[in-house]
Amino acid sequence: MMLDLIKNRKSVRNYSNKHIPDEDLRKILEAGRLAPSWMNVQSWKFVLIKSQENKDLLSELSIGQAHVKNADALIVCVADTGAWDEAKITHIQKPALNPALQGENGILIRTMEQVVYAISYMMLEAESLGIRSCIIGALANEITGISPDLSKTVKEKLNLNENQIISSIITLGYEAEHTETKKIRKDFDEVVFLEKIGNRF
Ligand SMILES: Cc1cc2nc3c(=O)[nH]c(=O)nc-3n(C[C@H](O)[C@H](O)[C@H](O)COP(=O)(O)O)c2cc1C
Repeated sequence: MMLDLIKNRKSVRNYSNKHIPDEDLRKILEAGRLAPSWMNVQSWKFVLIKSQENKDLLSELSIGQAHVKNADALIVCVADTGAWDEAKITHIQKPALNPALQGENGILIRTMEQVVYAISYMMLEAESLGIRSCIIGALANEITGISPDLSKTVKEKLNLNENQIISSIITLGYEAEHTETKKIRKDFDEVVFLEKIGNRF
């Protein structure tokens, strides 16, 4: 059943005017909150956006992508690089076990990594509720380095601190018009191996 959900999920960029009930938005956000993370650091914040004003601003942040404006709701997924310090794991002094000791780049990568699990959980919960979504990764932030002034303005508007990075945005809404799309993926044998690359499972 979960596999069917995964097979049916697709990025949807055309949304109808129908609103998502708050109860369903809560379920989606709850799925993110319950995602796993390294040492349970939970290095994420999720900012739910419903106002057109903020949707327009976030569309601008994502290089003018129209579906960011037209979605019924957005979830701004924030990677909180300060979470490792807050998690009080300083007693673990081995860098291999503690990303806080893996340097600035290591902390950044590990923090972004944790958020991805929460994003996946939220997208699948949305799909299970008949709500379509799309991940927006093409945006101005500290990773892409584009439009630093705009990035700063948005962070201030959303009350993010300097340790918090907008990793991506999830657009949410009901599909305007159902279209059959083929799932384009590499073949199973191209990506799955037994014991070593090249050996088929
Ligand atoms: C990290 C990430 C960033 C993405 N960024 C964007 C984006 O900025 N805009 C967009 O329309 N789709 C974006 N996508 C959606 C992908 O294009 C889409 O998932 C991929 O083409 C596979 O299609 P499917 O989701 O319909 O299976 C992103 C997906 C991921 C995982």
